[in-house]
Parts: sequence; C-alpha cells; structure tokens
Amino acid sequence: MREVKEITKEVEDYVRGAVDKYESGHGWSHIERVVRLAIYIRDCEKRGDRFTIELAALLHDIGDHKFALHDGPAEIRRLLGESGVAEDIIREVVYINENISFSKGKNDIIKSPELQIVQDADRLDAMGAVGIARAFNYGGFKGSEIYDPREGYLNPPSLGSGSSRSLSTVHHFYDKLLLLRDLMNTPTGRRLADERHDFMVKYLEQFFREWDAH
Ligand code: ADP
Ligand code: NI
Repeated sequence: MREVKEITKEVEDYVRGAVDKYESGHGWSHIERVVRLAIYIRDCEKRGDRFTIELAALLHDIGDHKFALHDGPAEIRRLLGESGVAEDIIREVVYINENISFSKGKNDIIKSPELQIVQDADRLDAMGAVGIARAFNYGGFKGSEIYDPREGYLNPPSLGSGSSRSLSTVHHFYDKLLLLRDLMNTPTGRRLADERHDFMVKYLEQFFREWDAH
C-alpha cells in the first residue's frame, strides 16, 4: 500500500471538492471537526484502526441524500480503490458511510469500534455550541422557523427517520439533539457529550426566558 499520508491527502482533496456545495454546517469545516474528534476519541479509547477511522471520518458524508445525488458507497470504492487502499479497509469505510446516520443507519446492528468512534464524533458535532450553530444554519437553509410556539412537542420525543423534518429548529432539539447524549457508543464520547448536552439545556432555558420577555 502507498504511504498513508499521501492517500489521506488525496482523499482530503476529493472530499473538500465534494462537500463544497453542501450547506456550511455540513461542509469541510464539519468534516475537519469530525476527523479531529474521532482521532481524539480513538487515542483516549486506545482501540480502532487509526487509518480506517481517519478515512471513514473524511468520507462519512459522501453521498448524503440531503445534498448529493451520487451513490456514496460506489464513489468511495472507486476513490479508495484507485488510491491503492486495501480491500478490507475499503469495506469498513463503506460500511461506516452506510450506517453512520439516523436516516440511513439501523441502531440494532453490531457496530465495529471504528463505526462506534466515527458515529460518536459526528453526533458530538451536532451538540453543544457548534451543534446549536449548525442547527440554526441548517434550519435557515431549509427555510424553517427559529421556533413556533403554536406547535407542541412530541412527548416523549421520537427519534426516527423524520428527524430532518422538525416543525422548527427549536423543535429539532427535542426531536433529536437532546437525545444524542444517551446514544453515545464510547465512554469518551459520553464524557464529551455530557458537557455539550448541559450547554444545550442551559441555552434552551435562556431562549425560552427571552422568548417570554423576562
Ligand atoms: P445525520 O447526518 O446523522 O443524518 P442530520 O444530517 O440529520 O444527521 O444532521 C446533521 C446536522 O444537521 C445536525 O447538526 C443537525 O442538527 C442538523 N439538522 C438536521 N435536521 C435539522 C432540522 N430539521 N433543523 C435544524 N437542524 C437540522
Ligand atoms: Ni456529518
């Protein structure tokens, strides 16, 4: 196999071009944060193959149905095959791409350590201060209301394939973002999620105080 660094650089260049047209919360900066988080989690957990994790984090949003028309797995197989990546690593990276998200993933599958780590990293980036910014940016991109007090919450909230179709962006916190903490796969993910979760809860308390003018 060719030098790992050289392959990673090639994949980075490809992904940068591919996510260029995605909304900013799903763009290159999101990919960079997920790569950094995933590597950090892996170093704390001391498990999972680093190269596979880095490639899978870089390629996790390729073929995202919200932005892309092409077939993600086929693109990944072509790209990594041409770069000379070993077949078992390609298979793992494709499996992670297919199973990472709520919309595509099934929660009852057996998750490899690499999937567990990249999924935690992607979910962490939907939480906390960055997650709040991404939610309102995506809501604006879709033309959603910031908040619509006429619409009640689902109680208990339900996490399903419909999570991308919340009634307003504030509803999206209850549909999805506040549920992520309990879905963390790794102890390190859970530790990072606790702080981000508490920050979102504080944020919403302040939001509703201001909404009600006191
Ligand atoms: P996944 O990549 O796991 O399928 P999504 O693409 O639904 O997850 O979520 C990715 C980002 O988009 C998250 O930051 C999430 O908060 C945001 N997002 C998704 N749906 C909505 C929505 N209806 N309103 C606001 N933000 C959303
Ligand atoms: Ni993502």
